[in-house]
Amino acid sequence: MKILLTGAEGQFGRCFQDRCRDHTLVALSRAGLDITDRAAVRAALARHQPDLVVNGAAYTAVDRAEQQRQLAFAVNRDGPENLAIGCAERGLALIHISTDYVFDGTATSPYLPESAVNPQSVYGQSKWQGEEAVRSALDQHLIIRTAWVFSEYGSNFVKTMLRLGAEREQLSVVADQRGCPTYAGHIAGAVLALLPLLSRPGFERWGTYHFGGDSFVSWHQFSQAIFANALSLGVLTHAPRVLSISTEQYPTPAKRPAYSVLDSSGLQQLLQDQFDNDWQQGLRWVLAKLSG
Ligand SMILES: NC(=O)c1ccc[n+]([C@@H]2O[C@H](COP(=O)([O-])OP(=O)(O)OC[C@H]3O[C@@H](n4cnc5c(N)ncnc54)[C@H](OP(=O)(O)O)[C@@H]3O)[C@@H](O)[C@H]2O)c1
Repeated sequence: MKILLTGAEGQFGRCFQDRCRDHTLVALSRAGLDITDRAAVRAALARHQPDLVVNGAAYTAVDRAEQQRQLAFAVNRDGPENLAIGCAERGLALIHISTDYVFDGTATSPYLPESAVNPQSVYGQSKWQGEEAVRSALDQHLIIRTAWVFSEYGSNFVKTMLRLGAEREQLSVVADQRGCPTYAGHIAGAVLALLPLLSRPGFERWGTYHFGGDSFVSWHQFSQAIFANALSLGVLTHAPRVLSISTEQYPTPAKRPAYSVLDSSGLQQLLQDQFDNDWQQGLRWVLAKLSG
């Protein structure tokens, strides 16, 4: 297959590039293709003639989005719409990555793809509208919602904890928000595992899926797992004391869902033994990579 990947320099994009060995990959960063530019999207599809598009591009600065509403909507709503329209014109499928932030976090059991959405932030609203734009422009789509993404690349919670842990004796981390940490390499692996299924004649399981790590924790518990593993792998020589605080004690411009647990069983059923979402193993892999 020839795959066109957008947002190729992001966490997901980099992990996808690392793992995409059995296909021809056209990996385009923002400089190579700005997905907000519909003419540029059409031109890229015409030029590269892919069999499938994977969209890893997004505006992911959740707090900044509260101020940069227009830009967030341009990238997260109009961008996927442009890609979906371009794919529809050429009879291509689109795999698009979305987020747990489409939910309000008031549930008490894991969110299913069909659970009611109620985004609480500009980022969440823009991602929801991007999903809806994809659904209305293109039947042959897979939308994969994920959460709490970390990797060896870019900025993420694991890298922030390691940096702060090396600088400080004590940290305060929110303990009343729970979610499933997800290794970007596992998301990339799941997308790659889907490709042979999509090429089968008569594939009909298009739609929305969830892919989150295999268990849920609070940010505080996640930080403890990071420090315990960083110590045992020699990434840090000492770990800070980690105090637990409430969301109220750590106000942010964008409201976060308190409960962000995704039910990934639909994708697991589809991928069977190709499904891997063991986030603790992903964490150890990332720490080993970061320790060089
Ligand atoms: N990170 C998380 O915790 C998280 C949680 C849930 C869901 N997700 C979703 O997972 C997907 C991948 O996230 P990620 O963590 O890999 O994000 P990321 O590291 O922020 O990567 C996103 C990439 O998109 C690029 N981009 C921004 N605007 C663009 C545009 N107009 N055209 C083309 N590319 C553009 C960015 O380039 P620049 O760096 O140059 O701006 C960046 O390389 C996204 O759909 C995100 O919404 C992420």
